[in-house]
Amino acid sequence: MPDAPVPLVDLRRQYAPLLPALQAAACQTLADCDFIGGKAVRVFEAEFATALGVAASVGVANATAGLHAALHALGIGPGDEVIVPAHTAIATAEAVTLAGAQVVFADIEPDTCTLDPDDVARRITPRTRAIVPVHLYGHAADLDRLLPLARAHALWVVEDCAQAVGAQLHGQALGSFGDAGVYSFFPSKNLGGFGDGGAVIARDPALLKKIRMYSNHGREDKFRHDFEGTNSRLDTLQAALLRVNLPHLATWNAARRAIADQYRQRLGHLDWLQLPVQRDGAEHIYHVYVVRTQQREALAAHLHELGIRTGLHYPIALHRQPAYARLNLGPGSLPVAEEACASCLSLPMFPGLTPAEVERVCDAVEAFHA
Ligand SMILES: Cc1ncc(COP(=O)(O)O)c(C=O)c1O
Repeated sequence: MPDAPVPLVDLRRQYAPLLPALQAAACQTLADCDFIGGKAVRVFEAEFATALGVAASVGVANATAGLHAALHALGIGPGDEVIVPAHTAIATAEAVTLAGAQVVFADIEPDTCTLDPDDVARRITPRTRAIVPVHLYGHAADLDRLLPLARAHALWVVEDCAQAVGAQLHGQALGSFGDAGVYSFFPSKNLGGFGDGGAVIARDPALLKKIRMYSNHGREDKFRHDFEGTNSRLDTLQAALLRVNLPHLATWNAARRAIADQYRQRLGHLDWLQLPVQRDGAEHIYHVYVVRTQQREALAAHLHELGIRTGLHYPIALHRQPAYARLNLGPGSLPVAEEACASCLSLPMFPGLTPAEVERVCDAVEAFHA
């Protein structure tokens, strides 16, 4: 009998031990019938903030909505430019457009695939109002250089931590460096929910309050709307379930780091394969484990043949997406992002992936060139 495939991600395996607690939390929510803004939302928001080492957080419907709410609450809108990396999920850029501002794509660093501060500096204009560093793959963007740059030009910084829940830089939670930090609880994220969900933190309590109100029709009280907002609240059911998962986040992230260590030990010597790097002071939490090779398609096909599933994060740079054809950014305009898109391949990575499975993946990768 051939071995079962090694999945890229297996949520069933991750959640199996938690099923009784998850079922109890879900049943309690159903019994309480307090589905919108219920007690579990407030409790989760407080617990999540404590886990990050910050004073408060606001639950939102998803990170896309959280990024939009943060940019909007900062006063960003028509006529403004916001710099985002060209290599990220489209949500980062969509949030800028949703706020009414102009997306400006910047290139990325060749080793970390996060925003290149030098390229950001080149793209700052008198209209630039904010930078959105993305802590891609669970690893810190170069905040040591981006924050002073933003300060020097009086720009807001909204950290996109969708892939970096629990990751740190210099011992401090990502998301807590800039003016706001936004997290995603999309099911496959490091802290996944059971549907969509997200959270926002902000340095200024008044800004966080505005984000909370914006996400709830511009109101604090039931009947008084101080301004028009939207409906992008975190569901009580998701909050209740996320409360079950949250205490396991640190263990899950440690498990991901151990898998990354095993990959590094086994694959570090391959000169044709570029492994993820970790910048000084950063703690990478490997939301995905992305290797790079000029022979990406052939390697993926070879691994698939051997029952190993892989992913692509991401195969098309945002400026080359039809959605941004209006920006007229042709091939070669953001070359590092384009190269990353052509060479990246995500290997299996999830808490619960066994050392034996990682060995299988490594054997198969090594065999590719043998
Ligand atoms: C970097 C990044 N930003 C934003 C998002 C959007 O998150 P959500 O699905 O919660 O809206 C994602 C999700 O894939 C992401 O990876």
